[in-house]
Amino acid sequence: FLVDKANYRHFMAKEIHEQPEVVGHTLARYVDMATEKVALPAKLPFDFGAIQRISITACGTASYAGYIAKYWFERLSRMPVELDVASEFRYREAPLRKGDLAIFISQSGETADTLAALRYAKSQGLHTLSVVNVPTSTIARESETVLPTLAGPEIGVASTKAFTCQLMVLAALAVAAGKARGELSDADEAKLVRGLIEIPRLMAAALATEPQIEKLARDIAKSKDVLYLGRGTSYPLALEGALKLKEISYIHAEGYAAGELKHGPIALIDENMPVVVIAPFDRVFEKTVSNMQEVAARGGGIILMTDAKGAAEATIESLVTIVLPDMAATFTPMVYAVPVQLLAYHTAVIMGTDVDQPRNLAKSVTVE
Ligand code: G6P
Repeated sequence: FLVDKANYRHFMAKEIHEQPEVVGHTLARYVDMATEKVALPAKLPFDFGAIQRISITACGTASYAGYIAKYWFERLSRMPVELDVASEFRYREAPLRKGDLAIFISQSGETADTLAALRYAKSQGLHTLSVVNVPTSTIARESETVLPTLAGPEIGVASTKAFTCQLMVLAALAVAAGKARGELSDADEAKLVRGLIEIPRLMAAALATEPQIEKLARDIAKSKDVLYLGRGTSYPLALEGALKLKEISYIHAEGYAAGELKHGPIALIDENMPVVVIAPFDRVFEKTVSNMQEVAARGGGIILMTDAKGAAEATIESLVTIVLPDMAATFTPMVYAVPVQLLAYHTAVIMGTDVDQPRNLAKSVTVE
């Protein structure tokens, strides 16, 4: 059917702004708001209690959704999770246990490497579950279980709304796993589900940072390199932030675990290298602040994405703070994804690139 840009200049802008709505649709399919329980749209043909290990495989932005989900599954269900990009998984001959669970994440459902990885996992006797945005796709058809994202058609080559919808599905699944394995009580589940129910509203609030981000993008556009730092689930989001920026603005960017700063990238820091720090006020916040101080001491300009508490605690000069709404710590990546995407988008607009169709990239990579 017809998809247009509505009043937006690019599909990417429209898709960023649609997120509260489509993440809300996805949420409504995965939780029962009245009972505050997870209610998956498909019956799982396996018992989480019988699974020893989950392996998650995807490419690009979808792999970062998987990386965030690894933290969620491990924390909430105490199940070990391995995360691979599909091109590595399919050839590395990983020892897999029959009857374990393999999860595949793909917007298009057609990515060649992800599909090959799915076929490999099937041949090894694993349960296969895919999180896909196109329900008629090959990956959806060939998976034992399909959990759809309800993002609607995504046109911009750089994935945005599919990513946050993937996170919503994976968050619900991680809660379901924790519950099924007896790691979460009914009360824990209700609390987590209430946290998920808040997400669309919080994402809408995060969109209000746009005018500030538009101004910051003018500085980013003058840079040759940008570093993104985060800890915990903010680390894979830092990787996603760097990917988004390089994909559409062609500015070199790297995402790093904040604690790894001193093991290499700190050598690059000077006044010409902006550092984007993703740090909600959570249990690792103080540690990230100390990494930020190391950046400030070397003259690096810092853009800190945090909440009101984080902004009050972090008193460093040369710091620009983007203040996001207060929220439960577990699911922050869905909300912090919004300013991360907006920063890449506005930088690309200033650079004058073809935002929806960046050079050399394809929306769906169906060749190896
Ligand atoms: C391409 C796109 C990315 C996407 C990746 C995986 O590289 O440009 O935006 O994240 O493929 O695509 P998939 O459809 O499997 O999520």
